[in-house]
Amino acid sequence: MSAVDVKAYKGHVVFTPQFGRYEIIENGYIVVEGGKVKGVYQDLPAAYANLEVIDYGDKLIIPGFVDLHFHAPQFVNRGLGLDKELIPWLETYTFPEESKYKDLAYAKKAYQNVVRELWKQGTTRCVLFATIHKDATIKLMELLDKAGLAAYVGKVNMDRNAPDILIETTEDSLRDTEEFLKETVDKYEKVKPIITPRFVPTCSPELMRGLSELARKYNVPIQSHLSENRSEVAWVKELHPECPNYASVYEQFQLFGQQPTVMAHCIYLTDEEIELMARNKVYVAHSPHSNNNLSSGISPIRKLIKAGVPVGLASDISGGHDVSIPSVMVAAAQVSKLKWVEDSANGDPLSTAELFYLATKGGGSFFGKVGSFEEGYEFDALVIDDSSLADVNPRTIEERLQRFIYIGDDRNIVARYVAGKKIEEPQF
Ligand code: GUN
Ligand code: FE
Repeated sequence: MSAVDVKAYKGHVVFTPQFGRYEIIENGYIVVEGGKVKGVYQDLPAAYANLEVIDYGDKLIIPGFVDLHFHAPQFVNRGLGLDKELIPWLETYTFPEESKYKDLAYAKKAYQNVVRELWKQGTTRCVLFATIHKDATIKLMELLDKAGLAAYVGKVNMDRNAPDILIETTEDSLRDTEEFLKETVDKYEKVKPIITPRFVPTCSPELMRGLSELARKYNVPIQSHLSENRSEVAWVKELHPECPNYASVYEQFQLFGQQPTVMAHCIYLTDEEIELMARNKVYVAHSPHSNNNLSSGISPIRKLIKAGVPVGLASDISGGHDVSIPSVMVAAAQVSKLKWVEDSANGDPLSTAELFYLATKGGGSFFGKVGSFEEGYEFDALVIDDSSLADVNPRTIEERLQRFIYIGDDRNIVARYVAGKKIEEPQF
């Protein structure tokens, strides 16, 4: 017996090493050593002849889903007020709900439900907004860690244009953020802090400058919102007439790729902004459910990818109403088709294989070697029993995956792994 844990998993293995290209090994093996993929094989090599094999039979083994943008405190608001646009929706529903997370007991209860749902839907990694409240944010991290999920979690910062119930002074905001970073940066193995200016309208220049210094000092990534709604974009222009566009506001404060950065939405970008994102490797968290629900618009994903901007998918709970990443994939497919119908110069609609890549390796790359079964990748995986979806026709593995994405649900997910560890339903 070697000291390092080595196992093989057998089943129909599907992943996308490249954008739009499936690798499918029917009745194949994934060898995992110390939580990382050693290799994927049609037949188990002789050297592994005595290895423990976990045989998933006729089931599919796919990478875990990655959600690049999710507001944990808004989980309780799913489905609420989605006939409004962004700014009135924030003021009417979102800010009042988020103010409740000052109460740690309330936060704990609400966040337990969030973590359980992430587990249930097969979201093995996620990038979360919490609220401005440091203690509740740390509670969320503790719950994710207990559940065995991997995540970046941000204490939100907002010191202007916010209601009295949900605002901080610049000084408090920076002090609490530094305390939050000190406390969490090395506390959990797979749950890490991320700097989280809510968006330009709610963050003063001093705050943005201070947050960027903290991001560098503690070497942590950054998340925010960018160019989601036309009124929002016009408001940012009013607030920052010195900047040529929205992205350059973040750029001037060194919050735009100086540390790994992910920006949600990115709908109304100029060519200059797209070029800057590609150059700085700033990720787009594509949130089509949210963009539809709040009448925000359609993000030009094909154009962004062609320009070299890294992209992943996101639920954006509760602008989005559905935690399921397969459901987000379907919405992303549909809006890309509508965009193409409106103007074919936008490029072809996104294929299912391309969306599968965005849902796994695309978003996963924000975490490092995550979202694929290539050698060296962390073994984040889902086992899919799609027997309930079978009908009178035989199906290829690719067709079975397509049907799981479109008509399957969490009941088809029968096992979940994060970095090689099997994670069971959270008991809290
Ligand atoms: N922009 C600033 N805050 C938010 C939020 O909570 N949700 C969405 N969708 N956009 C935002
Ligand atoms: Fe958001």
